[in-house]
Amino acid sequence: MASTHGAEVLVASNRGPITYEVREDGSLHTKRGGGGLVSGLSAIGPDAGALWVCSALGDGDREAVRRGVGEPGVRMLDIPADVHADAYNGIANSVLWFVHHMLYQTPLEPVFDAEFRRQWGAYEAYNRAFAEALAQEAAEGAAVLVQDYHLCLVPGMLRELRPDLRIGHFSHTPWAPAEYFSMLPDDIRSQLVWGMLGADRLGFLTWRWAQAFMDCAGSTDPERIFPSWPSGSTPKSVGHSPTGRPPLGTTEIGVHGLGADAEFLRKRAHEADVDERMAALRDEIGEAPDGSRRRTIVRVDRTELSKNIVRGLLAYRQLLDDRPEWRERVVHVAFAYPSRQDLAVYREYTAEVQRVADEINSRYGTPGWTPVVLHVKDDFARSLAAYRLADVALVNPIRDGMNLVAKEVPLLSEEGCVLVLSREAGAFQELGDDAIVVNPYDVIGTAKALHEALTMPPGERAERVKRLAAAATALPPARWFLDQLEALKAAG
Ligand code: G6P
Repeated sequence: MASTHGAEVLVASNRGPITYEVREDGSLHTKRGGGGLVSGLSAIGPDAGALWVCSALGDGDREAVRRGVGEPGVRMLDIPADVHADAYNGIANSVLWFVHHMLYQTPLEPVFDAEFRRQWGAYEAYNRAFAEALAQEAAEGAAVLVQDYHLCLVPGMLRELRPDLRIGHFSHTPWAPAEYFSMLPDDIRSQLVWGMLGADRLGFLTWRWAQAFMDCAGSTDPERIFPSWPSGSTPKSVGHSPTGRPPLGTTEIGVHGLGADAEFLRKRAHEADVDERMAALRDEIGEAPDGSRRRTIVRVDRTELSKNIVRGLLAYRQLLDDRPEWRERVVHVAFAYPSRQDLAVYREYTAEVQRVADEINSRYGTPGWTPVVLHVKDDFARSLAAYRLADVALVNPIRDGMNLVAKEVPLLSEEGCVLVLSREAGAFQELGDDAIVVNPYDVIGTAKALHEALTMPPGERAERVKRLAAAATALPPARWFLDQLEALKAAG
């Protein structure tokens, strides 16, 4: 099945580097995405024989596939819309995302019923479509880098089809603790672990998530042999001999903590559209009654349950309650961009964010002061403007694979912002020493942290932000990607 002229390096992910829109005149317009993978992959250069396999998402992408329109280096899979919806909304975002971020709430969730089983069938079909496309496109011995929880079964499926390939999988999310993971039906847990262990190498953003995967794999199938975790943080090999399944070889576990793309961000943040948005934001923020500069507490997130935006707002309200001296002197700039709006729970969460922000504004606001400046329309230039204006960055997720905002704001803030950071974000492992660390559930503790951040002496702020910016850029996307590729080629 190996193609003689196939790709030497392949990336597979649900969301690809481009999307298409059908214009009114029927023409197709291409939009390019950003993010770590896009800049990472570009680091290997256009002649490296790389191919990105992704889903066709939405009507524009499907139309492009139908018309045979494409970009070199990208293959979009036109998986039937209902299969994709069940796999992506039903399993990936409503089950696996919830398990890894520990978002289920009893007594109603989770329920693994006939509907779940039907959706699981779609998840398998969707993973199989990727495995088959990769098997078809890869050159003999090629390196394949599979991304994220959408595609957990792909490594195992691909290993069966093409034992010659070097297969890696990278998780951009946390991995669930074994006791939480064990709420999934036993056969589903086994399949997920089997799929992942089809890889030669599994990558995680922190050792914490890597260790959690090891625990889950060990408790899921005790017949597999997992040596105890080594002291120190060197990658290790995991031997396993599954029964009744094809031999999978060994899987190495590695950690690559993605950093901010400093070069790109510093340049982009000083373009004219960002300057314009800064001026507009300054107008919205206004001045304190005594004419002094108002402080800003900035957050930028997808409107995502795991980001904990509502508790962040409640902590800000608590600050205004406990510390009246901050009234009129601070503004919470909160950007909460729509995400996964096909899911009712996300729509409800979006409404709750708006409701709490409105409630704070009507309770405390004055004619010259809007305590919460909430924007929900995605605007990258405005996000960068807010980063530049930040006195405090609030990053308080319940659980997060890494959280790049925590790394990006210290790089760009002109006031030398203080980072208030959840101990449950992957970024905590790298930035925790220089942040003010919070328990994301503790609203009073978070309010105190905000006060501490706002009152930190300038010298200390400057020292901390310097160290934060250095840590945040330690592994830029290009290096992050190349490290994984090199390690995959060397694994086993
Ligand atoms: C997380 C995941 C990514 C995903 C992103 C946006 O960061 O780890 O894989 O691309 O969320 O989610 P979406 O569902 O919009 O692709």
